[in-house]
Amino acid sequence: MLNIGVLASGRGSNFQAIIDEMEAGKINASVKLLITDKADAYAIERAKKHSIAYLYINPRDFGSKDAFFVKIVEEFIKRDIGLVALAGFMRIVRPPLLDAFPNRIINIHPALLPSFPGLHGQKQAVEYGARISGCTVHFVDAGMDTGPIIIQAAVPVSPDDTEETLSERILRLEHKIFPHAIRLYAEGRLRIEGRIVKIDGYRLEDNAIINPPLN
Ligand code: GRF
Repeated sequence: MLNIGVLASGRGSNFQAIIDEMEAGKINASVKLLITDKADAYAIERAKKHSIAYLYINPRDFGSKDAFFVKIVEEFIKRDIGLVALAGFMRIVRPPLLDAFPNRIINIHPALLPSFPGLHGQKQAVEYGARISGCTVHFVDAGMDTGPIIIQAAVPVSPDDTEETLSERILRLEHKIFPHAIRLYAEGRLRIEGRIVKIDGYRLEDNAIINPPLN
């Protein structure tokens, strides 16, 4: 079975969505370790509730950003982690982790990449006046939200939306596509060719335009 390591910095609602799908038996994988860079991340409470091992690693305890990531790699390797999921991890992943887990780190981003990368993807979409936005699960590379795209889902944006209302609409789909991408990975159905992610048994509805019927 695939062992998953999760990195999260905050409330961890995506982490929860992953846990729920696993507990429902929909994904043949288990979260072996949560690592957080924030002592008060609510994700820790979720780990406790579901008896998942967790570690708070304080980046300030390390002499460099890379040293912090070396420590993360050590902890993941100890637990035989096969896939790393960034579930609201608010740091740019550095080479020690990228090199230890090539094409084995995935991220959820709250916009339709390549539009609106970086922080506050929802706010960027509202301020730009976009009419459609959404979320993207992608493999992580050294760039800022530039890695190969696995799955996306779209939502409409109203002229009256605020960052909050749009974030809420997008989040509901994040909670569907992130576990779904993990399931595809766990089933060995993803293959990267250049920057294209090939999916075995691909169904168009897996990337339906609005409210994808994923289950
Ligand atoms: C989500 O909007 C995700 O797309 C972004 O950070 C947020 C994390 O939310 N990367 P949560 O901690 O999973 O609730």
